[in-house]
Amino acid sequence: MEFTVVANLDNRKNADLLVLPFWQVNGSVKGVTAYGKLESYTKTPLETSDFKGKEGEVLYLYVDGKHEKRIVMLGLGDSLKLNVERLRRSFSSLTKSCQAKKIKNINVATPLIPTLSEEDVVRAISEGILLSNYAFTRYKTDKKENLPVLLEKVTLIQAAKQALGIAEKYQTICEGVYLARDLVNGNADDITPQFLSGVATGLAKEFKSIKTTIFNKKRLEKEKMGLLLAVNQGSRDEPALIILDYIGNPKSKDKTVIVGKGVTFDTGGLNLKGTGGMETMKCDMGGAATCLGTIYVAAKLKLKTNLTVVIPSTENSISAECYKPGDVYTSYSGKTVEIGNTDAEGRLILADALAYVVKNLKPTRIIDFATLTGAIEIALGNETSGLMSNDDALADSLIRAGSDTFERVWRLPLYEEYRDQLKSDVADIRNIGGRPAGSITAAIFLQEFVGNTPWAHFDIAGTAFLNDARRYHPKHGTGIGVRLMIDFLQNLG
Ligand code: BES
Ligand code: ZN
Ligand code: ZN
Repeated sequence: MEFTVVANLDNRKNADLLVLPFWQVNGSVKGVTAYGKLESYTKTPLETSDFKGKEGEVLYLYVDGKHEKRIVMLGLGDSLKLNVERLRRSFSSLTKSCQAKKIKNINVATPLIPTLSEEDVVRAISEGILLSNYAFTRYKTDKKENLPVLLEKVTLIQAAKQALGIAEKYQTICEGVYLARDLVNGNADDITPQFLSGVATGLAKEFKSIKTTIFNKKRLEKEKMGLLLAVNQGSRDEPALIILDYIGNPKSKDKTVIVGKGVTFDTGGLNLKGTGGMETMKCDMGGAATCLGTIYVAAKLKLKTNLTVVIPSTENSISAECYKPGDVYTSYSGKTVEIGNTDAEGRLILADALAYVVKNLKPTRIIDFATLTGAIEIALGNETSGLMSNDDALADSLIRAGSDTFERVWRLPLYEEYRDQLKSDVADIRNIGGRPAGSITAAIFLQEFVGNTPWAHFDIAGTAFLNDARRYHPKHGTGIGVRLMIDFLQNLG
């Protein structure tokens, strides 16, 4: 999709549609700015109250216009309540309506909103449009006319010159979100550890600022990554540890390391998942997808920060060779782990990755993203990701980035008493802690492997994959976490 900017309504080019935003002020509905002669078209829907200006309301007027044959009156809701998120939602609603009508090229009268900065207005409009302007069609062979039609051109009218730069910046961020969504939505049999490795080497080819290192099975055996290897035992495909380095600030020693769970399909292993629990498990590399989307954006925007991505990746499969409940395996850190349940595999592969990062990569902070527990979906549903951290300042910055991007997070405690639930009689620790506080005990397990490094863990099991589309999130992969991380990285230091 392409953005352009023109100075005023008179300068606009022909398009399929002109969008005029309206809002509710003191009980009456008004254009956000004056629309001159065009108000002769919008007068009657206002007089009859057929158009109420509600958030996301879309009313089509068919006109004999010089530049467009259609006008949309777009509702932004109550002027006093208007904020970035509400604006995003209104433009998302507009975008979905355009797609249904196969409209490709639109002119938008940019609303100037006194309570919001110009950056915020353009950000909200571009994100609202771009996050909704996505379709996953890789496996559709249907005739072209049955494929979804997406917006191709958006012209922002009456926006300042910087608007184009702002819109393009958020377009890059949304490209990272699309990359994450595509990876989650791809077949588990396509998106293997080797495929993810290929994405990483592809990024290193695309951006000089990214370097990629990949550990194959032989190297992982040499490094003694016993937990990643254990989870991989039942798989056809080899595991991989994928490392990408982005150096955006060579003078600084500060380095954020993000770690993403890359389980390309989670059958549960010998503690096999049942029908209803397994069908969506191609999403179990959602954390890895978030990390790849994030480093893509960081490199393309040339963020002045250092970022490393670490992805432990394998399938959690089932065969005669697979790892066994009740057995004890030795982690990269040397700690031994009793397997209480082979379906708690994410924390195992993350433990080896985290310990590797702490020992070898001199991280300033570690942030991991993982579709780790079904329990987080029970606690927070699909609206909010779980956040757990050993560092209050880091947690606070991430919570702020979450509310800024509306990728909201809620922090859960890591009180040391929870550690008792992971006691093992035969090993140093056990990989399950029973049903109570399932998301917390999973994080307590991870914490054993980060030492004193400031660390935060996002449990995105409820937010990385949706069974139904909502607002600007499409059905299935959402790409959650990319926008949050970019916001966080931009505000570092
Ligand atoms: N990949 C799952 C968690 C998950 C559940 C992700 C739903 C996305 C949607 C994870 O590996 C898992 O199976 N966790 C178990 C842990 C239990 C055995 C302690 C769970 O949540 O049931
Ligand atoms: Zn599992
Ligand atoms: Zn899993």
